Amino acid sequence: MRIATANYHCHSRFDDGHGELEEYVRAALDKGLRTLGFTGHAPVPFPCSWTIPPPLLGEYLRSARNLQAGYRERIELLVGLEVDYIPEIISPSSAHIRALNLDFTVGSVHFVGRLAGGDLWTADGPPEELERGVAESFGGKFRPAVERYYERISAMVRSAEPDIIGHLDVIKKNNRGDRYFSEDAPWYRAAVAETLDVVAASSCIVEVNTGGIVRNTSGALYLSEWILGEILKRKIPVMINSDAHRPEQLDGYFEETAAILRGIGFRELTEIGRNGRRRVSL
Ligand SMILES: [Fe+2]
Repeated sequence: MRIATANYHCHSRFDDGHGELEEYVRAALDKGLRTLGFTGHAPVPFPCSWTIPPPLLGEYLRSARNLQAGYRERIELLVGLEVDYIPEIISPSSAHIRALNLDFTVGSVHFVGRLAGGDLWTADGPPEELERGVAESFGGKFRPAVERYYERISAMVRSAEPDIIGHLDVIKKNNRGDRYFSEDAPWYRAAVAETLDVVAASSCIVEVNTGGIVRNTSGALYLSEWILGEILKRKIPVMINSDAHRPEQLDGYFEETAAILRGIGFRELTEIGRNGRRRVSL
């Protein structure tokens, strides 16, 4: 059975990925995908090196829509954005995002707090950024920083209900070898469980994101296997995405992830089509 039939998370030269959107379409066809969703990082209203620059957003959307029409007979293309959730600043439900009439959104929390000088810092940047952020926003304590991260995911789900929740436990990106905290700690388990309860009451799909392995940024699957077990218990729908930053990464680690999911007990994935959601057996 083919597992790699869809991917709803990729980045191109419009943001921090490499390659034209059409190169992703050709790679998707080569790999036999029947659905590909485009998800450039939505612009944010402050300088940022990895989001689509505001003047390029129109070209990104036009290119994506042109490809969608031009390849209609050969592959199902969906036009979306990965939208940050930063309270009072941007959300998948911001009016200017809704006005774009996207086919879908991936909602992600990257920004966790502010440095002493006021700049926002991210959960998934280099370790030095994380350490400085935790030092300047949380007095050097990781627990409240991590709890803040999960509270933001919950707040995003409650207020914006994106179609897909991006890399839900990416806060562990720099935590190889339990460098900063243990995922076995009761407080960590509680923070994740509270967020999953919120997700279970929503219509969101949770992605299982292979990007940390495919790009070897963390070597870890988002989500951890014990979290996947909690997701299965709550019957939350899941999909596998690779967070590709190069066309050849579109189906990276899909087969292995599917085997992990089967081992945990999952029997189906949820996909988004142009006419709504569908379930595919795993
Ligand atoms: Fe992301």
